[in-house]
Amino acid sequence: MCNYFRVKMSGWTIPQDWERYSAEEHAVWDTLFARQSRMLEGRTTQAFLRGMDVLRLSRPGIPNFAELSERLMELTGWQVVAVPGLVPDEVFFEHLANRRFVAGRFIRKPEQLDYLQEPDVFHDLFGHVPLLSDPVFADYMQAYGKGGLRAVKFGALEKLARLYWYTVEFGLIRESGGLKLYGAGIVSSFGESLFALDDPSPNRIVFNLERVMRTRYRIDDYQQSYFVIDDFEDLRHQTADTDFAPLYLRLEMLDDIAPDAVLPEDVLIHRGNQARAKD
Ligand SMILES: [Fe+2]
Repeated sequence: MCNYFRVKMSGWTIPQDWERYSAEEHAVWDTLFARQSRMLEGRTTQAFLRGMDVLRLSRPGIPNFAELSERLMELTGWQVVAVPGLVPDEVFFEHLANRRFVAGRFIRKPEQLDYLQEPDVFHDLFGHVPLLSDPVFADYMQAYGKGGLRAVKFGALEKLARLYWYTVEFGLIRESGGLKLYGAGIVSSFGESLFALDDPSPNRIVFNLERVMRTRYRIDDYQQSYFVIDDFEDLRHQTADTDFAPLYLRLEMLDDIAPDAVLPEDVLIHRGNQARAKD
C-alpha cells in the first residue's frame, strides 16, 4: 500500500517520531515556551494557566504526543494526534468529534520565532492543548467537531469556520474585571498577545453567535475585531444546544460583515481606531 493510502486510512494521522527531533528543534520550543509563558503572565484566562501544567512534561523540549495524550486522557478524555499538515475538513471534524486534536509535528526554524504562516507544533500544542484540559472548553471543542460534520451537509462550512476562528483561535474572555486571552492564535503569538489586549487599533465586541458567523476574517495580519465571551459554559451551550439548520438558512439571506465593521446593534467594549490597518 502506498504511503498516501496508508495515511488516509489512519484518519490522516502519522507517528510523531519524537526521537527524530534534533537538539536545535527542542531548543526552539524551549525558547518559545519561556518567552511566551513570561508574556502571558496576567494576560490569559486562569483556565489556560492551569492547563499549562499538562505541557510541563518530564523533560524540556517538544512534548511527546503519547505522554501528553496520557495526561489529557486522564483529565478530559482528549488525545493529541500528529498529522502531516492541513487535513480535509471532514477528517478534522471527525477527530474533534471523537476528542482527538490534530497537531502538526514540525517546528519553526530559529529565524522564524515571530512569524509563521502555517501552524507548527508550538502553535498547536502551546496554543491549543492547555484549554483541552478544561472540562467545559474540552466539551465545546467536541461540540464544534460534531457541528462541523453537520455543516458539511448544509454546505455551511465557511460560516462555521468563522466561529472557530473568532473563538478557538482568536477569542477573548471577560475575567476578573478585565479582558483575558484564550484563543490559540493569540496566545502562541508574541506580537498578537500584546496587540489583542492593549492596542487601540482593533474592535473588541461582545460575542454574538450569528454576528460572528457573518464576519469575514484576516489571515494575513492581526485581527481587526476580537469577540469577547463571558465564559466557556455559555460558548459550549450556544454551540451544543443551538439548532444550526435554521441559523444557516437565515445567514444565507444576510450579507457578510467586513472584519473591521461595527454595527449599530453591536455591544462594544472598545471601538478600534483601525490604525494598524491604515499603516
Ligand atoms: Fe490553531
